[in-house]
Amino acid sequence: MTQIIKTVKEWRELCDSENISSKELGFIPTMGALHKGHASLIKKCVSENRRTVVSIFVNPTQFNDPNDLKKYPKTFEQDFKMLEELKVDYLFFPNYEELYPDNFTYKVHENSLSKILCGAYRSGHFDGVLTVVMKLLNSIKPGRAYFGEKDYQQYKLIKGIVEAFFLQTEIIACPTVRDEDGLALSSRNLLLSPEERKLALNFPGLLKANKTCDEIKFELEKVGFKVDYIEEYDGRRLGAVYAGKVRLIDNVKL
Ligand code: PAF
Repeated sequence: MTQIIKTVKEWRELCDSENISSKELGFIPTMGALHKGHASLIKKCVSENRRTVVSIFVNPTQFNDPNDLKKYPKTFEQDFKMLEELKVDYLFFPNYEELYPDNFTYKVHENSLSKILCGAYRSGHFDGVLTVVMKLLNSIKPGRAYFGEKDYQQYKLIKGIVEAFFLQTEIIACPTVRDEDGLALSSRNLLLSPEERKLALNFPGLLKANKTCDEIKFELEKVGFKVDYIEEYDGRRLGAVYAGKVRLIDNVKL
């Protein structure tokens, strides 16, 4: 049975009464709408830790577009079923007031990597991500936390705050999980129409093509994407595109 915990106080009391220590605790933060990519993180976490916590919290402070937040898919019943099937011990499921008693007056702000790539197009996005991750790591206190490499910039920034603020959590990157045709799994894929889903398939294919970033951008625009960026960073090629109104990100190792 997956136990639902809604407050930090409840979690701390449970850790005290059941002697749960950071060392035995693995954690996967999510915004719900769980898919096979999340399942792969969860399976790894369950196999490497005595206890696993998953959080579901659609974090409003990381959405620069209010419409994107409104449309973000919510599939709680299905999500909870997956957590039970994968033998997750605890679901941390706080509301906004619980996680933001300060109403976002305190922020974690990074001033370099968060300004490029996605950060150049989504103002304030990484402030929201880093702030909520700091809150989650500080309240759950896991020994290990698992993040997907699809959000490579997010993973690097989270590794960065752990180092900068001496957090005692090991950050573990897990490979991107793809549909059979190569599209990286993302909760946002649920929002694609059948035509947009067909178009989206060109993105991973072109991203790994033996071409320059400018050539790839040109090809993507030619087939119908709006392109935010295609750039190389840290031995990878990263990109963000729109298929219709749905923003997709992906990256490949060079
Ligand atoms: O990757 C995500 O789903 C979110 O950015 C995260 C890490 C759960 C923070 O809200």
